[in-house]
Amino acid sequence: RCVVDDKNSKVAWLNRSGIIFAGHDKWSLDPRVELEKRHSLEYSLRIQKVDVYDEGSYTCSVQTQHEPKTSQVYLIVQVPPKISNISSDVTVNEGSNVTLVCMANGRPEPVITWRHLTPTGKQ
Ligand SMILES: *[C@@H]1O[C@H](CO)[C@@H](O)[C@H](O)[C@H]1NC(C)=O
Ligand SMILES: *[C@@H]1O[C@H](CO)[C@@H](O)[C@H](O)[C@H]1NC(C)=O
Ligand SMILES: *[C@@H]1O[C@H](CO)[C@@H](O)[C@H](O)[C@H]1NC(C)=O
Repeated sequence: RCVVDDKNSKVAWLNRSGIIFAGHDKWSLDPRVELEKRHSLEYSLRIQKVDVYDEGSYTCSVQTQHEPKTSQVYLIVQVPPKISNISSDVTVNEGSNVTLVCMANGRPEPVITWRHLTPTGKQ
């Protein structure tokens, strides 16, 4: 969100790699990015279908007759945890070593826990 208090202000949105919007002119080629103007003083940036690469700082830069003002916002993108690799069923002989693999990703980094469900009716 970026709202200015003087409609003659020059407003720009930037991220770390460059200018996204300069006034109403879109510099970014990303079709997911647009300006949200619900009134003449609003210059909010709207990003559709956010992905992890959108994470980072965004700057709203406002130039009035006096001096330029910038405000920064840091966007954190979370991703639900997902198991990417898990061992398939395995049979081993008693006394041997076995490694059960579990790999997961997500943001923040997921915590993996293992639980042994003791089989009932074991012979
Ligand atoms: C900055 O914005 C450009 C254009 O929208 C985009 O391609 C790029 O991935 C963004 N970079 C970062 C670090 O967010
Ligand atoms: C899963 O992990 C095992 C052990 O590290 C590896 O051999 C296998 O290639 C992995 N499978 C996939 C789909 O990443
Ligand atoms: C099982 O692992 C232990 C510890 O790494 C090792 O000392 C032992 O030789 C392994 N046993 C077998 C049968 O591979």
